[in-house]
Amino acid sequence: MNLNGAPVIAIDGPSASGKGTVAQRVAASLRFHYLDSGALYRLVAYTAMQSEVDLTDEAALSDISRDLNVVFTGAKILLKGEDVADAIRAEICSNGASKVAAYPQVRSALLGRQRAFRQVPGLVADGRDMGSVVFPDAVMKIFLTADAETRAQRRYKQLMEKGIDANISTLLQDIRDRDARDSNRSVAPLQKGADASLLDTSALNITQAVDEVLRRYGEICAKPA
Ligand code: DC
Repeated sequence: MNLNGAPVIAIDGPSASGKGTVAQRVAASLRFHYLDSGALYRLVAYTAMQSEVDLTDEAALSDISRDLNVVFTGAKILLKGEDVADAIRAEICSNGASKVAAYPQVRSALLGRQRAFRQVPGLVADGRDMGSVVFPDAVMKIFLTADAETRAQRRYKQLMEKGIDANISTLLQDIRDRDARDSNRSVAPLQKGADASLLDTSALNITQAVDEVLRRYGEICAKPA
């Protein structure tokens, strides 16, 4: 079986754009596998912080990336057997992930692990460099975004629903800082590739965004080879 032949839908975009939820639902609808690549960077930051490794120590971070003992199973993310799915969503891990993700050695240590998710019948992968670096031959590349204010509002609502206190202007500032860090780094920066199609969800709800991705994929599949 040629696993490399499995189609990949790459969904890249900035923090809190809703791409994770959209990608998961698209994957479920197509019965494809799903890769949350941001979770890997979050796991590296989480592990480093747990073991008091400095977030500027590239060599140590790259060892952590290579040795991550992680299993994704449904909504669970088992790190050495412990479910850390919620823990790695904390703002401290979001900021840490954005820092460790700037290191080339960390990115290359995670490359093979990400590509291994490509299996039949297909994969929906979300992140920042899915279409540009990890799966450059993806059949469809979407750059999914929304304006920073809308993203801050969405994150605020999510946190409130979980009973977590938050401040909208702090969230907006965090999103802007992270956008700047993710877009300005020298390796695999967040940017829309020329071969990616833009999907701005500022005025769309999740269902509309999912339907639009599926519609675009249907169009690609319907084209004669
Ligand atoms: O998608 P996310 O918010 O879970 O990602 C967390 C951080 O990881 C984000 O600041 C950017 C980084 N990231 C990356 O550099 N490349 C990816 N493919 C995915 C995430």
